[in-house]
Amino acid sequence: MSGNDSTNDAAAQRTQVAIVGAGPAGLLLSHLLYLHGISSVLLETRTRDYIEQRVRAGVLEHGTTEILRQAGVHERMDAEGMPHEGIELRYDQAAHRIPMTDLTGRRITVYGQQEVVKDLVAQRLADDGDVRFEVSDVAVHDVDSERPTVTFTQDGRQHAVTADVVAGCDGFHGVCRPSLGDTLQTFVRDYPFAWLGILARSTPRTDELIYASHDRGFALYSMRSHEVTRLYLQVDTDETLENWPDERIWDELSQRFSLDGAAWDPGRGEIFERGITPMRSFVTEPMQRGRLVLAGDAVHIVPPTGAKGMNLAVHDVWLLARALDAWYSHDDESLLRRYSDDALLRVWRAQHFSWWMTSMLHRFGDDAYQRKLQIAQLNNVTSSTAYATALAENYVG
Ligand code: FAD
Ligand code: DHB
Repeated sequence: MSGNDSTNDAAAQRTQVAIVGAGPAGLLLSHLLYLHGISSVLLETRTRDYIEQRVRAGVLEHGTTEILRQAGVHERMDAEGMPHEGIELRYDQAAHRIPMTDLTGRRITVYGQQEVVKDLVAQRLADDGDVRFEVSDVAVHDVDSERPTVTFTQDGRQHAVTADVVAGCDGFHGVCRPSLGDTLQTFVRDYPFAWLGILARSTPRTDELIYASHDRGFALYSMRSHEVTRLYLQVDTDETLENWPDERIWDELSQRFSLDGAAWDPGRGEIFERGITPMRSFVTEPMQRGRLVLAGDAVHIVPPTGAKGMNLAVHDVWLLARALDAWYSHDDESLLRRYSDDALLRVWRAQHFSWWMTSMLHRFGDDAYQRKLQIAQLNNVTSSTAYATALAENYVG
C-alpha cells in the first residue's frame, strides 16, 4: 500500500491512520508515519495553545532523545535540553550520588514535555500535516472491520474519518480505551498520596535532580532551565492548593531536603505554576483489538517517581510506526499483530521500576517497619554497585 492518500472532503474523509489525541504519543506517531509516507489525520479536543502550555513530565530517557533525533525534531532539544549524568538520593540527612553515565554509558535529558509537544506541533504544521484542534464528540466505530471510522464535530459540523487503523493516543480519560470493549484485562494500584508540583523562577542550586526520602515525606528537586526550577512534594490525596500557600511549600521543601541536620534552601522564587497529581499504576491488556491500537497514557499509567510516563508513550508509538511501515511497505502484518506483546514487555518493566522507586522513597503513613525497610533498600542502592547499576539502567532507559 502507498501513503499520503488523504482526501479533503469536509464531512467524510479517508486516511490510512486516524489518530485520536495530540499528546506526545499522537503527535510523534503522526510525524513518524509521515516520514514513512503514511497518511494520518490527528484529532485533538483541546486548543493548540492549551496542549503547548500543559506542564507535565521533564525527563527524557537516552532512547527517547535518540528517537526524537532520528525523527529530526531535536534542534531545540539539543540546544536547550539539559543533559544529566547522575542523580542524587538524599535521606537520613546525607546526599548520595548515583553516577548513571559511569554505570551505564547513557544519560538523560531534562526538557519539558510541553517543549517536546511544541516542537512536534511545529513540525507537523510545517509538513502540512492534518492536525485538527478543538474537535468534540469524538467516537470510534467498527474497530472489528477493515474500515474503522472516527466521527467528531468540528466548527459545528459533523465529520467522519475512515481509516485502515485507528490509533488511540487520547490519554487516560480518552474515549478509545472504552472502545476496546470487554476483551480487556486491567491491572491497577492506587497509592495513598499525591504530588504537589510547582514551577518557580529561581536559578537551580544543583546540576542534578535530587530525590529526597524524608520522614515527613518525599520531595523531588528538578529544573527546566538556568532560570526555572521544578519541585514536587508528596502530599495527602485529599490536599488542595489552597492549603499550600507559597511559604508553606518552601518551608516544607527546605525540611525535606535537609542535610547534616540543617534545613536546605531549594532557592525560593516566584511560583508561577502549581498543580496536584494523583499517583496510580494502571495497565490494560491487550493494547489492541482488531484495527484499534492504543498507545501511551490511554492504556498505561505509572506513578511519576521513575519519570517513565512520556518515555513509554514515545516507545509505544515508535513500535507502532515501525509495525505500520512493515505492513504498508512490505505487506508484513506480523509486527502489527504483536504490537501489544512487544510494547507490554517494556511497559511492565517500567511499571515495576516506577512502583519500586515510589515504594522506596515515599512515606507510607506511620508504618515504622516499612520505613526501616526503605532505609535498608536505600543503603543497598547507595553502597552496592550492582544495586546502583540496576537503578541507573532502568532510569536512563
Ligand atoms: P497525553 O499527554 O495525556 O495526551 C493525550 C491527548 O489526548 C491530550 O492532548 C488530550 O487533550 C487528548 N484527548 C483526550 N481525549 C480526547 C478525545 N476524546 N478526542 C481527542 N483527543 C483527546 N510523567 C513523568 O514522567 N513525570 C511527571 O512529572 C509527570 N507529571 C504528570 C502530571 C500530570 C497531571 C499528568 C496527567 C501526567 C504526568 N506525567 C508525568 C505522565 C506523562 O505526562 C504522560 O505519561 C504523557 O503525557 C503521556 O503522553 P500521551 O500522549 O500518551 O497522553
Ligand atoms: C521530573 C518529573 C519526574 O516525575 C521525575 O521523576 C523527575 C523529574 C520533572 O518534571 O522534571
